Amino acid sequence: MTKITVNTKRPYSIIVGDDLLKRAGIFCKEINKGYRALVITDSNVAPLYANTVICALEQSGYKTGIFVFDAGEQSKRIETVIKIYESLSRNGLTRGDLLIALGGGVTGDIAGFAAATWLRGIDFVQIPTTLLAQVDSSVGGKTGVDIPQGKNLIGAFWQPSLVITDTDTLSSLPDDVFKSGLAEVIKTAAIKDKKLFSILENTNEFDVLQREHIIAHCIDIKRGVVERDEHEKGERKLLNFGHTLGHALEKYYDYSVLSHGYAVSIGMSVITEAAERCGLTENQTADRLISLLKKFGLPTWDSAPLKDYLQYTAVDKKRKGENIDVVLLKKIGEAYVKSVPINQLETFLTPKGVAIDEQH
Ligand SMILES: NC(=O)c1ccc[n+]([C@@H]2O[C@H](COP(=O)([O-])OP(=O)(O)OC[C@H]3O[C@@H](n4cnc5c(N)ncnc54)[C@H](O)[C@@H]3O)[C@@H](O)[C@H]2O)c1
Ligand SMILES: [Zn+2]
Repeated sequence: MTKITVNTKRPYSIIVGDDLLKRAGIFCKEINKGYRALVITDSNVAPLYANTVICALEQSGYKTGIFVFDAGEQSKRIETVIKIYESLSRNGLTRGDLLIALGGGVTGDIAGFAAATWLRGIDFVQIPTTLLAQVDSSVGGKTGVDIPQGKNLIGAFWQPSLVITDTDTLSSLPDDVFKSGLAEVIKTAAIKDKKLFSILENTNEFDVLQREHIIAHCIDIKRGVVERDEHEKGERKLLNFGHTLGHALEKYYDYSVLSHGYAVSIGMSVITEAAERCGLTENQTADRLISLLKKFGLPTWDSAPLKDYLQYTAVDKKRKGENIDVVLLKKIGEAYVKSVPINQLETFLTPKGVAIDEQH
């Protein structure tokens, strides 16, 4: 078991290990003395793990309730949050009580947003059950929902009071959901840690021990970034590597064809090839990145016409007036933010494009 402390304004711990769900109640009681706990989970995760978590909470003295929503990104909307408010009200949760997000990134984002806004903010505990949620979304306090105009456009920074990362839950993940999380693992290594990138290059299968080690390593990298830049004014933007195009692609397909991780995988590949072509990224970087993504079965290209999905960057949160911040790799393990005029993005990404700096 590994314990990582995140020193944000409101510090909290992330516990990483196996067989942790049945101790969830004990861990929760250490940080919250409330009487009630409401578990938010989705329709796939509920039959697998909700019982264990509820029993653990009850054994530690919590009076529990559960709210289950239909699994999938389509549920990450304000209507689901309103239903959670109704459930919070029905279950009588007051300010000292606890909300538990048991599931993947969708569950964490909507339950976190409900916790941030219910009675102006109550404690919430993340129990992430996808690889993506374990290495990325459960760390750092970004919560929110999608609206028809774009992804994550409504939200709040609200740090969890505790994260319980039970690596055993990954064993029930469908293969493509696991792979989707690997895209965020590779992203973390690509922007911050060339050693981790090499480890991944030399790994074919994750055994249990290696899995915990790699997950804890990714969490620790994100911890450092979040501590230095809790509200995404600078360094934290680097975590958006691959996400400008990834989000645009997800929106283009109306969040149904491509998972978040697959879209990010394509986004990282396309932007890095373009940056390398323009001399903004060290040679061979795109090749190494694309080979690694392909090795783990991730897509690196999509047949959707670039300009058809680029239109969706128009409402991207990374947009500032006529410019948009994109994250580029300097080389493997090092990234930087570049501000690009939005009307030059297509030229930049098209194989015959010229370097942004040369355009007027
Ligand atoms: N807040 C952040 O900082 C942040 C960072 C990255 C991504 N995100 C968000 O995370 C979301 C994507 O997360 P995700 O990929 O975890 O999606 P998800 O929560 O929809 O989970 C993917 C699928 O796996 C199922 N599932 C979850 N755990 C399971 C388990 N242990 N066994 C079997 N099935 C399981 C879910 O029911 C779902 O069908 C996106 O909405 C994205 O915007 C947020
Ligand atoms: Zn992501």
